[in-house]
Amino acid sequence: MAERSIGVVTMDGPAGVGKSTLARRLASELGVAYLDTGAMYRTLGLRLGPAAADMEEERLRAKCRECRFSLETRDGTAKLCCNGEPVGPEIRTERAGRLASLVARLPALREELQRAQRELGEGCSLVAEGRDMGTKVFPSARHKFFLDARPEVRARRRYLELEARDELNGATFEDILRGIEERDAQDRGRAVDPLRPAVDAMIVDTSDLDLDGVLRVLLDAVRAGSGVLEEKAVCRRAVASVSLDALTLDRLRSDDGRAALDAAFGDGLVAAQAVAARRGVEASVDLAWSVEATSLVVDAAVEGPMDGTLALTAAQAAVASLAAFLPAGSVVCARLRDDDAPASS
Ligand code: DC
Repeated sequence: MAERSIGVVTMDGPAGVGKSTLARRLASELGVAYLDTGAMYRTLGLRLGPAAADMEEERLRAKCRECRFSLETRDGTAKLCCNGEPVGPEIRTERAGRLASLVARLPALREELQRAQRELGEGCSLVAEGRDMGTKVFPSARHKFFLDARPEVRARRRYLELEARDELNGATFEDILRGIEERDAQDRGRAVDPLRPAVDAMIVDTSDLDLDGVLRVLLDAVRAGSGVLEEKAVCRRAVASVSLDALTLDRLRSDDGRAALDAAFGDGLVAAQAVAARRGVEASVDLAWSVEATSLVVDAAVEGPMDGTLALTAAQAAVASLAAFLPAGSVVCARLRDDDAPASS
């Protein structure tokens, strides 16, 4: 695919949601550069340290400008460099993450980095990953994604990642979960550029999806939005299921429950058609539901472009719309499935 047909793809979301892996893989599949803006905050966090918080504004801006960021091709891929040197593994420590979160609250520092990020995106195609890419840095990007996942799922992923690298250093799952919740509170609650989805972003909950499945959804959406759809659609169906207790099951079978299911289906279809309209594609969406022994299963089938994305959107939106009927804390599991698999598998 020609690079100039892509433009900027933004990928925002909280820590531990699989953003970096997905953004890197998406960029590689699309043949464009990957811009890791968290790495820029980490680099400045390490360089300036906690003292940055007390610096007088002009001095802080001057310090930021001492660090000139660029994307330079090394070994065939674009690498983020600071003053001509690739940023190294030292920015990946928990300490660097904490310092990054600290300096990311400083408006002047953010402005300096946002300006540098816009310059890097000027006139070229890239996948830009961060917290404010779709809302602030590239508000007119053609493709915007917001990835999310439950904190426990993100903590589990992070725990396994550190364990595999033998870098747990005695940290327990609970320690990691607490760290993720603290970072979330800081990122979502800060006064300046808080983490939130852009109004025109596609929100993808990755809690119950494998990364290959999410990557297919993202690629599908970017290609559709760029007018370079592949001939063969990649996926046609998605299911969202939610566990039910006996009481909820009875309520869903009542007249009220059936009315809620009808309304939920309407919401699922509207959500999918809204995504299709935004991307300028036409597709037909069908929803069916079945109540299994202990769960409600919503099955979405789509014919047409972006089928994976639309099926997932329809199934997730239908179940989400039933929230008032479901027990508090219900876990919804949504996934793409192959055409031929039976509906209840
Ligand atoms: O994605 P990460 O963990 O490498 O990000 C490090 C910190 O930087 C995180 O606390 C959020 C902050 N950040 C930000 O505020 N804005 C961005 N565009 C990217 C990261």
